[in-house]
Amino acid sequence: MLVSAKEMLEKAEAGKYAVGQFNINNLEWTKSILLTAEELKSPVILGVSEGAGKYMCGYKTIVGMVNGMIDELGITVPVALHLDHGTFEGAKACINAGFSSIMFDGSHLPFEENLEKTKVLVNTCDVLGVSLEAEVGAIGGEEDGVVGTGECADPEECKTINDLGVTMLAAGIGNIHGKYPENWAGLSFETLEAVRAKTGNTPLVLHGGTGIPADQIKKAISMGVAKINVNTECQLAFQEATRKYIEEGKDLEGKGFDPRKLLAPGAEAIKATVKEKMELFGSVGKA
Ligand code: 13P
Repeated sequence: MLVSAKEMLEKAEAGKYAVGQFNINNLEWTKSILLTAEELKSPVILGVSEGAGKYMCGYKTIVGMVNGMIDELGITVPVALHLDHGTFEGAKACINAGFSSIMFDGSHLPFEENLEKTKVLVNTCDVLGVSLEAEVGAIGGEEDGVVGTGECADPEECKTINDLGVTMLAAGIGNIHGKYPENWAGLSFETLEAVRAKTGNTPLVLHGGTGIPADQIKKAISMGVAKINVNTECQLAFQEATRKYIEEGKDLEGKGFDPRKLLAPGAEAIKATVKEKMELFGSVGKA
């Protein structure tokens, strides 16, 4: 059964580790992430962007697939199904479809509008037991075709949004989606410290988990980050493993590639990436 991310994140915040959010794009990715979480006895959050939601035939299909896998693969660790960078409409659609957690990303809106919309969703989510992530200060890089530059959130704005009663808060601290440029300045720990001082024990979320050096990840966790999102690294691992398989020419003697075999190396590569991240984030054995 899917669970809200609230309890797993409160435990992570108190225990000074982070739960990984791994974005899913198809059945193979989902299965790889769930099996790895179960093997490592780690709680896990499956992230779905609106674009990936469309690709996988819509939110109801995803809820059905994930619930079916939890049952048929015998998954016992806590699993939250979470909308990643949702619009207001997308958030409502995911709640209706049965997601256990949502992110409303109003960071690109005027602050008052972000506040008002987040407030409406806090009330809805409270009633339904769905966890809610809000965002202040846009995360840079590219997400579903939208490109932005890294920002540092205003700690006062973080406080105002946090005081609405959100489950978790994504605050920009110079992090970027995708690969980090050579000249990236690193995470702004001054911003993280200032945000933390204004938001108490609310679990903080670090987006752009691909390519942040391990020491910065560990420091961020020690300062209140309890959820870390990873997407690009799984995509790169999947791409590289699939490319190698095709280059080796393992088709069925000219009859073409067997899709089950073709996707298997990528699925294994995702397992290895997820394992590495769960070990780094400290969530192994915490289910
Ligand atoms: P990366 O693609 O950089 O891993 O970031 C993922 C993310 O933050 C999704 O919200």
